[in-house]
Amino acid sequence: DHLSGFVIAVDGPSGSGKSSVSKQVARTLGYGYLDTGAMYRALTWWCLHENVDLGDPDAITAAAQRFPLSIGTDPDAPTVLVDGTDVAAAIRETGISTNVSAVATVIPVREILRVLQRRLISEAATEQGGVVAEGRDITTVVAPDAPVRILLTASEEARLARRSTELHGAADEAAVAATRSQIVDRDRADSAVSEFTVAADGVTTIDTSHLDFEGSVEAVLQVVEAARA
Ligand code: DC
Repeated sequence: DHLSGFVIAVDGPSGSGKSSVSKQVARTLGYGYLDTGAMYRALTWWCLHENVDLGDPDAITAAAQRFPLSIGTDPDAPTVLVDGTDVAAAIRETGISTNVSAVATVIPVREILRVLQRRLISEAATEQGGVVAEGRDITTVVAPDAPVRILLTASEEARLARRSTELHGAADEAAVAATRSQIVDRDRADSAVSEFTVAADGVTTIDTSHLDFEGSVEAVLQVVEAARA
C-alpha cells in the first residue's frame, strides 16, 4: 500500500498548533487536509452513542469494524459525519477529550483506522495534488514514506497558554491552572500511543514555542519548499 502524490505528514502533541497550522498550510498549497485526531474522536463519539463499554477493548474493536465514518479532506470544510450525523462540533467537547485515549490505545483499532487513513491520504493526494495529514503517528507509522515529515513541538508553557486561550478565552493564571491538569493528563494518556520528545529519523522538528501562527505556517512552508528543491 504505497502512498502516491505529495504527502506532508505532521505530528505533534496537543497545543503544538498542529491542527490550525496544518489546515492553513493545506489552504496555501491548495492541498487536501486530513485530521486523524478527528477520526479517533469520532470513533469515541460513536462508541458512546452505541453504548459501547470503553473498558472493553474487544467491544471497541467491534465498533471500529462497523464505524460508519465519512470525513472530508477540504481544509475549508473539514466535515466529519458518523452515520450521516454531523459530529464536527460534538467531538471537540470535554466528554470526548477525556475518553478518546481509551479508544486510541487499542492496537486493533489503530490498525483499522490506519487502513482508512492511508486510503484517505492516497485519494486526497491524487485528487488534490497533495495532502497535509496530521496526528500523532503520521510521520512514523501512517505515512513514513512521505516526502515531507514534520514534528511540531512547543514547550509545555506555550502549549498550556494556547490551550487555555482556546478553552477559556484567556491565558491568565486561573485559566492556565484550570487547563493544566487537562493537558498533563492528556499527554500522559497519549504517551501510551507515541513519544513526541524525539523526532524519528528524517523528521524535521519545528519548535513553535516562540512562533506565532503565521510564523509556524511559514516555517512549515519553508520545509516543504526545501524538500521540493
Ligand atoms: O489531536 P487531537 O487532540 O484531536 O487527538 C485526539 C486523540 O487521538 C489524542 O488523544 C491522541 C489520539 N490520536 C492518535 O492516537 N493518533 C493519531 N494519529 C491522532 C490522534
